[in-house]
Amino acid sequence: MNRLNRESGNVLPVRIYGDQLLRKKSEPVEEIDGRIKGIISDLIATMYEKDGIGLAAPQIGHNLRIFVVDPDWFRSGEKNPRVFINPRFLSLSGVEEEEEGCLSLPGITAEVKRAEKVVIEAMDQEGKMQRYEAEGLYARALQHENDHLDGILFIDRISKLKLITLKWKLRALEQKKDNKGVNLDTYFSDKQSDIPRNS
Ligand code: NI
Repeated sequence: MNRLNRESGNVLPVRIYGDQLLRKKSEPVEEIDGRIKGIISDLIATMYEKDGIGLAAPQIGHNLRIFVVDPDWFRSGEKNPRVFINPRFLSLSGVEEEEEGCLSLPGITAEVKRAEKVVIEAMDQEGKMQRYEAEGLYARALQHENDHLDGILFIDRISKLKLITLKWKLRALEQKKDNKGVNLDTYFSDKQSDIPRNS
């Protein structure tokens, strides 16, 4: 089977809770050059390999306002990755509380309140401005990924009481970081691969 060009990226380690980069505000993308296209391909490859609904650039080590979401993958199994560069919500309406997880918070889930419907504007990988309307899980994924660009994790949006119950799990994740503050998931060590962990 032919592999689509957009899926030719590398599967990369995902930064997990405790990593400083996850808490930084990301910078807007100025120009969609070869480097940015490479980051997009890596995001897409990593998202599918790790069964994510979406993935944001800071999670693979880039402080840039880019994320990918696939609204069809989790519904139908059909791959239709969408790229959001310098995204901006035009409207958020309704409230829905559902369970959420994050590749940067392995083993942790919690109920999070999000807008039920959103309208979002973003550049696609060709540099064209696109507007999307979304609801339900798709809308939730867009809000979750957009939060990553502002250094926000879903645990920042849960009740204090629930957060207390997660304290020890969070502490355990945090302690995995190296002396440079880099904290990666165990995907590669789990697979006993000798692919180097880049930071
Ligand atoms: Ni996440």
